[in-house]
Amino acid sequence: MIHTVIHSSARDVAEAVALFLAECLQEDPGLVLGLPTGRTPVPMYRALVRLHRQGHADFSSATTFNLDEFVGLPAGHPGSYRAFMQRHLFAHVNLNSAQTHLPHGGAANPRAEAARYDAAIGAAGGLDIAILGIGANGHIGFNEPAASLPARTNVVALRPGTRAANAAAFGGRASRVPVRAISMGVGTILSARHVLLLATGADKADIVAKALRGPVTTRVPASLLQLHPRAAVVLDRAAAKKLTSYC
Ligand code: PGA
Repeated sequence: MIHTVIHSSARDVAEAVALFLAECLQEDPGLVLGLPTGRTPVPMYRALVRLHRQGHADFSSATTFNLDEFVGLPAGHPGSYRAFMQRHLFAHVNLNSAQTHLPHGGAANPRAEAARYDAAIGAAGGLDIAILGIGANGHIGFNEPAASLPARTNVVALRPGTRAANAAAFGGRASRVPVRAISMGVGTILSARHVLLLATGADKADIVAKALRGPVTTRVPASLLQLHPRAAVVLDRAAAKKLTSYC
């Protein structure tokens, strides 16, 4: 069973995970981290920035690989995940910019870019810790529910609900959200030595219960974490509330 930690609030989830990561960086400054975007990790990044300013989180030797990026946005587009990471983390900590990686969404050949990205993760020695959010439909990275899932980093089509969930950075218009993304594959994610999934808020309660207590299925991509030997899920009470009743 996946190791599950439940905190009383989303803020406590953020603080606990940030502290854990700061401690991991103290033990192994050269960590290779897989990083998420979205609403959930924002307070965690805020806490990490604060820990960095207080001298408790040193990123100078760390390497980061984000889980995904939209296809087709020009460099510097405010809706890109590169821009998100710049705003929430990269601009505020001592990460070497050459060590921060996201797929190049503007690449002329997105498939070739996906293969290059996967190879770059391998060349860095793989991910030490993959930090994940979970989509309301159970996606991890941008691996949407399907009959089968790409093992390695690939070009994926985004579901309408996923595009709607990302509309805020596109003037509130889901139609402006790109239809494709480059996402780490589920095999790439599950090859991480540790996987840490964060979920907060009542709107994640159903999918969290399905992913943790339901069958392992590509129809709920996060359920594949049940196969990982060192996966942990960190929840607030609202996101955990369906866990006990689920069978
Ligand atoms: P959210 O997204 O944190 O914005 O809910 C999570 C995800 O889609 O992986």
